[in-house]
Amino acid sequence: MDGHVAPTLNLDAIRADFPILSEKVRGKTFTFLDSGASAQKPRQVIGAMVRMMETAYANVHRGAYHMSEQATEAYEAARAAVARFLNAGDVREIIFTGSSTNAINLVAHSYGRGVMQPSQAVVISEMEHHANIVPWQMARDAHGIELRVCRITDAGELDLDDLAAKLADGKVGLVAVTHMSNVLGTVTPAAQIARMAHEAGAKVLFDGSQAAVHRRVDVREIDADFYVFTGHKLYGPTGIGVLYAKGALQEAMPPFLGGGDMIAEVSFERSVWAPYPAKFEAGTPPIIEAIGLHAAIDYVESIGMAAIEAHERALVDRAMARLPQIEGVTLLGRAQDRGGVFAFALDTAHAHDVATLLDRAGIAVRSGRHCAEPLHERFGVESTCRASFGLYTTPAEVDLLADALHQAREFFR
Ligand code: ALA
Repeated sequence: MDGHVAPTLNLDAIRADFPILSEKVRGKTFTFLDSGASAQKPRQVIGAMVRMMETAYANVHRGAYHMSEQATEAYEAARAAVARFLNAGDVREIIFTGSSTNAINLVAHSYGRGVMQPSQAVVISEMEHHANIVPWQMARDAHGIELRVCRITDAGELDLDDLAAKLADGKVGLVAVTHMSNVLGTVTPAAQIARMAHEAGAKVLFDGSQAAVHRRVDVREIDADFYVFTGHKLYGPTGIGVLYAKGALQEAMPPFLGGGDMIAEVSFERSVWAPYPAKFEAGTPPIIEAIGLHAAIDYVESIGMAAIEAHERALVDRAMARLPQIEGVTLLGRAQDRGGVFAFALDTAHAHDVATLLDRAGIAVRSGRHCAEPLHERFGVESTCRASFGLYTTPAEVDLLADALHQAREFFR
């Protein structure tokens, strides 16, 4: 991930691109601190999707007529944009899915059950989202593979000694871990994890649903075998996710879903699969969503991932200076390398009550367990509130959150 010093963002111009940010909530300015759940969409994304539907829409890969050829070109151009965004070596390494969850399920099914042997193991970690836990439990129950859970430290970092121990017997076929925790904000050392996995003969998958939004990701630099992210957290639409998978792995993997477009030939006796990535894209794909994702990638790239990262680092520093000072507030995780996601508990109130009070001030945060129940158990907390930043978040909004939390503590005293 690149660390060069970037110019400050023009936040007024950026915020003007997001129509929803000027909406009022209960008569108050809308302070949106839930981008980790789903980010807001700029006009550029909304416009690209509408334009596609109004002027250039048809199904892809199926028509010999002009409009369908045009739609196919736009859909494949989106794939090329994703390949560039991740610095993939080959555009065919990009598979479009419906979401990150779909992408991980694809790997769990096609690689976990289709390529791995029942005698092998998958390593996940204590800080995984349910989307990177449950598919592996299903693969374990159906196929017999072992599921190992790598510990995290009290600071919320991956315990690399424990990872080494989990890899030591050479039975691990895949390490599947988050690249940035959706609760702790921890950014994991992807290149090091990949190196450790590869030395032990295992492949590696990163859940980049959060990370790809906040930093430049280079799948070749970190040497990921699989990398997953989703459109709707990257200021794009819902309904589209991405699976980067190395070509040799796609070659070896059986399809996940069967249907149109993923075949070369079909008879009642047998079917022959299309070459990858089409082999993994059964049915009409998320065409309009791919156009939206392309526009979202163009949007963040026009700002610059390094500039976005620098802006968010400043927000993190501000949050770290303010939030821990508030009486009764406990932050989960203190990782050295972290992004703009903060889960916290207030000693005198339930997370839902805190979130409700914040909402009265126009501040939107997520409350509950954030699809990470085992992680909450690991830290011994029932639930937390979570504030998560986007590229449009301002330092003033971080201060607003801190002030509102201070008032919430007074209220719930
Ligand atoms: N995975 C999303 C979140 O963390 C929904 O909130």
